[in-house]
Amino acid sequence: MKAEQLWKAFGVQADYEAWAFGDEPDHLAQLVCQGIKTGTASAYPVYEAEGEKVPEAGEYSVILDSKDEAVCVIRTTRVRIIPFRDVPADHAWKEGEGDRSLAYWRKVHEEFFIGEMEEAGLVFTEDMPVVCEEFEVVYQPALDEAVQRFFRGDASGHDWFHTRRVLNLAIYLAEKEGADAPLCRLAALLHDVDDYKLTGGDFGVTEHAVQLMKDFGFSEETRDKVCAIIAKVSFKGADTEIPESLEGRIVQDADRLDAIGAIGIGRTFAYGGSRGQAMYDPAIVPQPGKTAEEYRKNSNTTINHFYEKLLLLKDMMNTDTARILAEHRHQVMEGFLKEFYAEWDFPKA
Ligand code: NI
Repeated sequence: MKAEQLWKAFGVQADYEAWAFGDEPDHLAQLVCQGIKTGTASAYPVYEAEGEKVPEAGEYSVILDSKDEAVCVIRTTRVRIIPFRDVPADHAWKEGEGDRSLAYWRKVHEEFFIGEMEEAGLVFTEDMPVVCEEFEVVYQPALDEAVQRFFRGDASGHDWFHTRRVLNLAIYLAEKEGADAPLCRLAALLHDVDDYKLTGGDFGVTEHAVQLMKDFGFSEETRDKVCAIIAKVSFKGADTEIPESLEGRIVQDADRLDAIGAIGIGRTFAYGGSRGQAMYDPAIVPQPGKTAEEYRKNSNTTINHFYEKLLLLKDMMNTDTARILAEHRHQVMEGFLKEFYAEWDFPKA
C-alpha cells in the first residue's frame, strides 16, 4: 500500500510526512508496529544544513518500509534537542533497538551519525545536538483487518460495516468538536468487540479490545483511555452512562447515530430477526425506562425497540454536531413508523 492510500484509510484530516528509517527500515518499522520502538534520533545539524523543519509534537508520519510500502501512521508526542553526550537512558530504551541500553544506543548511533554528517559535509562530535523524537502508533491497517475478521458473518446489525460507519462518524465528530481524532477512531474501531450482544458477556468488559491493542503495540496509556471509553459506550436503558472524556462522548454519539435514521431502522430489524423476535405485536406494549438488566434480558418486538431506545437517542446526544445529525435521522424514523402503522391497519385506518 502506498502512503496516500494508507492515509486515506486512516481517515483523519491532517498533514503528514512519509518516510522510512535511515538504517534497517524494515526491522525498525516492525518494532514500531509491535510498540517496542517509540522513539528515534536524528542529527540536528543535518536539518539545518538541508533547511528541513525539525519535527514537532502532534505531527503525523506515515512509516515506509525499504520498498516504499506504507506500514503504519505514527504521531509525534515529544521532541527534545539534546547534545549527543547527554542523551539519556530513557530515550535509548524508547528506541527499542538491541538490548535497549544507553551503551548500545551510543555505539550504534555514533556510527550512524558519523556517516550521516559526512554525507552532509559536516563532522560528528559528542556535542552535536540530537533531535530525540518520541511517538505513538495511531493507525495500523492490520488491526482494522483483524477487527473486520472478528465481525465476519454477523447478521445482527453489528457487522464490520457498522463499526466502519461508527469509526467514520467518530472521526467526523472529533474534527468538528476539536477532539483527539485518532483516539476516537481507535475506540470506535474496538467499541463492539466486547459487546454483550455479540459475545454473550457482560456490560463494561474490555478483554478482546485490550488483547487486540496489546497485539498491535498500543501503549498502556492508550489502552486505558480506550477502555474507559468503550466500557461506557453502550446503551443500558435507565442505567446508561456518559463517558468522562470528550472522545468517549463522541464515540457514544457516533454509535448512537448509527442506531437511528434509515440505517438504524435497517439494523433494528436485522437485530430483531437474528434474535427471533416478532417484528410487531400490538398486544406487547413498549416499556421505556428499563434498567440495564431488564433491558438486556427482555425479549420484545422490533417496533417496541424504537420506543425503548431509538426515539430517545436524539435527546441523549452529547455533542452539538451529533445533535444536528440526529435531528434529521430522528425525523426519518418518525416518518417510517407513521407509514408502518398506516400499512398495518390498512384499510381500516
Ligand atoms: Ni455499536
